[in-house]
This record gives sequence, structure tokens and C-alpha cells, in this order.
Amino acid sequence: MATRSALVTGATAGIGAAFARRLAQEGHDLVIVARDAARLDRNAAQLRTQHGVQVDVIPADLATDDGQESVAVRLQDPNRPVDVLVNNAGLSLNTPFLRSSVERETEMLNLNVHAVMRLTLAALPGMVERRHGAIVNVSSVAGFGAAMPGSTYPATKAWVTNFSESVALSVATFGVRVMALCPGYVRTEFHQRAGINMSKTPNWMWLDADELVQDGLRDLRRGKVVSVPNWKYKVAVFGLRHLPRPLLQRVARDTRGRIGRD
Ligand SMILES: NC(=O)c1ccc[n+]([C@@H]2O[C@H](COP(=O)([O-])OP(=O)(O)OC[C@H]3O[C@@H](n4cnc5c(N)ncnc54)[C@H](OP(=O)(O)O)[C@@H]3O)[C@@H](O)[C@H]2O)c1
Repeated sequence: MATRSALVTGATAGIGAAFARRLAQEGHDLVIVARDAARLDRNAAQLRTQHGVQVDVIPADLATDDGQESVAVRLQDPNRPVDVLVNNAGLSLNTPFLRSSVERETEMLNLNVHAVMRLTLAALPGMVERRHGAIVNVSSVAGFGAAMPGSTYPATKAWVTNFSESVALSVATFGVRVMALCPGYVRTEFHQRAGINMSKTPNWMWLDADELVQDGLRDLRRGKVVSVPNWKYKVAVFGLRHLPRPLLQRVARDTRGRIGRD
């Protein structure tokens, strides 16, 4: 079988690094994207040594137009088709909307929403033309409801899940898969980067990035459009989708702070 290739954004840490490891282990050549060029090079060298695959790096800030453009150009290159795109890079903020700034909110929207739209639109036409390909958009269980009062992060992930579902249904007949992967809490650098204190979050709520990715890729191959790995979070999402909205809003208000958020 011909070698497959995958492009993973935010591939130097957490969930993105787990995707890169898993896809390399399965024999995919990789293109990995993040801002820190030195860390990208170190990760690429490790992946080449451990898995014997080809790894290209694109240092890019996906919250900027130039960064998005440099990755979009690579995804549109007809001579180097990408079979699997993982839109993973994302951030959260530790500031309630009332005290936030236009600059920080725009940065988050650019990375969590605009980059996902732009890279999907860069990759999808070629995949449809080739009648082959898959896109995983890393979303969050937070996108299913107003779970974090004052945080606009869930709204960005609601967009990612809704967008992925809509696009998935429009390209399924061409043999192309699009899936929103919706994790609960995963042990990564994510909360530390955002300055969110998670010390009160109980152990049982944490997921392992490698297990999450394994479950997510299994769901992708089964043709799922929205994947919520781990039964505890499946139950939580069922509740967020089906319990009466006023009840959920009261619970969100009452539990605020108890699971570690300010
Ligand atoms: N961890 C969780 O509990 C959790 C739960 C649900 C959903 N998620 C979602 O999962 C995804 C990955 O999160 P994670 O937990 O793995 O985060 P992480 O450990 O903080 O890793 C983030 C990765 O994205 C890169 N990145 C950050 N900002 C970037 C930018 N502007 N341009 C390009 N790359 C950028 C980082 O590298 P550089 O800093 O070098 O750019 C790093 O490789 C995010 O979309 C997040 O919303 C996380």
C-alpha cells in the first residue's frame, strides 16, 4: 500500500503530539505544525528515529493570517497530497468575558475557529477530488453547553463541532470523512498555558492523550461524525444535550469554581 500522509497542527505537545505519535506508528509520513521551531525540530527527529517515517515541519502561528496561509498552501499542493488533516491547535483563556480584551478574544477565535475553517477549506476540495481523505477537528465536550460561565471558549468549540458535522454530511458520499473529536479534561499543557488552576479537578475526570487519540481514530474509521471518547464524558454529553436548559444553567452557576476554574 502507498504511504499515507498526515498533517497535524499543534503537534509538539498534548493531544497533537499524541496524534503525531499514533499516525507515525501506523506508518503515515507527517507534516507537523506549531510555533516553536526548535521544539518542532526535536519532535520531528524523534518521530523519524522511532517510526522511520518522513517528517516535515512548518513553524507557523495559526492565529495569524500568514501562519494559516503557509499551512493552507502546503495542504493545497497537488504534488504532495495530505490524506489526514488533524486541526488540533487551540487555546483557552482564563479571563471571564467581562474582563477580557478584544485582542485576546480575537486571538482565540482566529486559532480555534478561523484556522480550522481555513485549513479545512484548503484540504477538502483535493480530498473530494481524490475521493479519499479524512479531517479530524479537535473540539471539546465544553462545546455542548454553557458549562463554564463567563468563558467564551465553549462557544468556539460549539462552532467546531457544528461545523464539522455539517461539512461531514456534505462530503460523506465522496468517500471523505470529517469528524469532531470532543474530549473532556486531558492531561496536557493546555490549562497551564491558559493559567487555569485545575488543582481541584478530581483524578477520575482526567483522560490520557494517547488513549484519547486511539479511541478517536477508531471512531473516525467507524464513520462517526462526532466522537466523545470515554463513557463518563458520553454520559455528561448526553446530559448536556437532553436535560432541560434551565436546570443545566443552574448547575453550571452552582459548580462554578468547584472543578478548578476561577
Ligand atoms: N487538554 C484538555 O483538557 C482539552 C480538552 C478538550 C479539548 N481540548 C482541545 O485539544 C486541542 C489541543 O489541546 P492540548 O490540550 O493538547 O494543548 P497543549 O498541550 O497546550 O498543546 C497545544 C499545541 O498547540 C500549539 N499551538 C498553540 N498555539 C498555537 C498557535 N497560535 N499556532 C500554532 N500552534 C499553536 C502548541 O505549540 P506552540 O506553543 O509551539 O505553538 C502545542 O503544540 C485544543 O484544540 C484544545 O482546545 C483540550
